[in-house]
Amino acid sequence: MDFQKELQIKVHEVEKTIGKYLPKEEGFQKSLLEAMNYGFLAGGKRLRPLLMQECYRLFGGRSEVIEPFMAAQEMIHTYSLIHDDLPAMDNDLYRRGKKTTHAVYGEAMAILAGDGLLNFAFETACKAFSFGGLSEQEMTRVGGALTILAKKAGIYGMIGGQAVDVEAEKRKLRLDGEKLLFIHAHKTAALIQSAMMIGAHLAGADEEAVKELEKAGYAIGIAFQIQDDILDITSTLEELGKPVGSDEKNDKLTYVSVYGLEKSKQDVERLSKEALDILRKRQERNEFLEELVVSLITRRK
Ligand code: IPE
Ligand code: IPE
Ligand code: MG
Ligand code: MG
Ligand code: MG
Repeated sequence: MDFQKELQIKVHEVEKTIGKYLPKEEGFQKSLLEAMNYGFLAGGKRLRPLLMQECYRLFGGRSEVIEPFMAAQEMIHTYSLIHDDLPAMDNDLYRRGKKTTHAVYGEAMAILAGDGLLNFAFETACKAFSFGGLSEQEMTRVGGALTILAKKAGIYGMIGGQAVDVEAEKRKLRLDGEKLLFIHAHKTAALIQSAMMIGAHLAGADEEAVKELEKAGYAIGIAFQIQDDILDITSTLEELGKPVGSDEKNDKLTYVSVYGLEKSKQDVERLSKEALDILRKRQERNEFLEELVVSLITRRK
């Protein structure tokens, strides 16, 4: 099957799966739940749950135990975007082709919607413990997956990267390649690593294989953020679904501001090939997963 068609079908399936875990919009806190679902349902590429599912399948995973983790991973990603767009952070008004959550529900409710999604992500992932018929070994794996999710989303992962990102203003820092790599590795690669590692771990991959996927996720994540920085300059609001020029506006330390457009493009390709090498040298192969990584090199949104 043609990759684009297969991707479309899989994204649709992923959306159905993660949609099952959303909160019902009812009760006195209805507005909060609406704001959470608004950000979550606005669309997006669903890259992280897709990567998780495909890594799960790569190692022979077949059960539904992966589902609450796919939903949880996308909830954490969505909360990171809602907070990233707040006036106190990147101050952006469009996301996923729609008005940002704070623009629609107000700042206070957007902060709470982010908090709500972060907490609900863990409530959701914990549902895996009460799936019927899990062996003791599978229960232990669910615990391991929760540990990966918590660490990669936290102060030594995404939140850590966002903190350094908001502090780094390119005018004040000279060419700071080391800090830039830290930012990309944490604010972006960490959640991609988390998705891939959880998929492998829940399917029963050994520690060494999970470490290999962590390396592949690192390369994919850095490449993904470099491409994001490139598109912030070369794309349009219509195509991207979020404002261009946001980095310039905020005087951000980005890959393009440090290394220029040409080297940035080359590095997206180089890092993606590094990730592909890791995936291709394994005995288990997943052709769709490999094509997905290739497609990210030339993505336009
Ligand atoms: C945006 O992530 C934030 C970055 C890490 C660059 P995505 O580009 O995956 O956003 P959606 O989920 O498709 O909206
Ligand atoms: C944000 O990076 C990454 C996270 C939200 C963790 P950006 O600020 O570049 O993401 P966009 O461009 O707003 O999606
Ligand atoms: Mg940002
Ligand atoms: Mg931003
Ligand atoms: Mg960006």
